[in-house]
Amino acid sequence: MSDTAAPRALTGAQVGIPPRHIDFRFSRDSQRHFFYDNNPLASLMFVVFSGIFPPGERFFMESVRHFRDQITDPVLKAQVSGFMGQEALHGREHERLNELFRERGLDVDLPARYVRFGLRQLERFSPRLQLACTTMMEHFTAHLAEQWLTDKALAASSDPEMLKLWYWHALEELEHKSVAYDVFELIGGTQRERKQAGWLVGIFVMLPVVASWLRLLIKEGQLFNLAENRRGLRALFGRGALISQVLRHMPKFWRRKFHPQQQQTQALEEAWRARLFGPAGELSDVYRNPGKAVG
Ligand SMILES: [Fe+2]
Ligand SMILES: [Fe+2]
Repeated sequence: MSDTAAPRALTGAQVGIPPRHIDFRFSRDSQRHFFYDNNPLASLMFVVFSGIFPPGERFFMESVRHFRDQITDPVLKAQVSGFMGQEALHGREHERLNELFRERGLDVDLPARYVRFGLRQLERFSPRLQLACTTMMEHFTAHLAEQWLTDKALAASSDPEMLKLWYWHALEELEHKSVAYDVFELIGGTQRERKQAGWLVGIFVMLPVVASWLRLLIKEGQLFNLAENRRGLRALFGRGALISQVLRHMPKFWRRKFHPQQQQTQALEEAWRARLFGPAGELSDVYRNPGKAVG
């Protein structure tokens, strides 16, 4: 390369957001239908999440891409490309998992359809509001990720390969948790827009999510499995439970001085990077581009 060549742009990996290519190989053992706590209601929530991630993450990427040209800071530029790469790969691997769900007879396309419809409605709003919605969903996802990485019932999942996918995704959600928000700040995003996003996400994302979860429960013939449903609801929404712990942090998003870095997860990220991608990491064997990532 000549001396006059333009300096190379930073990569996502160089700023701590490496898009990691993973090939998950899911077991075809159909015994593992309700992998979370052996509970239909709670397991179906994970099916819903996996179903909505591909369209949801595409929406996130598009809402950030819209403002990409306005970014001049080389670090934020690199963080955005790391964010795009990570989200694209999450979508790809969740599609692979969704294929497994389909093979098991789980209608994972139902939540995807519901949420795609909701996201299409969101796309009628201004790009700024769409980005505000993304920052809210990224806040939710980052807290969900923190819970996934520390949740005991998930750790006892009956499906070890699926578990690795949830962990990989969760770690990367924490690594890029500030990126969309930093772009939102750059374009002068306001607290008012964040409040509006709360309504929009509630109506166009949360409602379809809950409706599709309920319909999946009906389709699986589990709606009147009352004892199990009570147990599942307690496992998710009980005191200190998985989703309760996430919802507890949602009001922070509307604070005047909110920033995603207020959620301190560095030590957790370090520990999981070592566990998954360290020398004898659980995902080292299926990690196809380790050279490009930071440790
Ligand atoms: Fe993601
Ligand atoms: Fe994300």
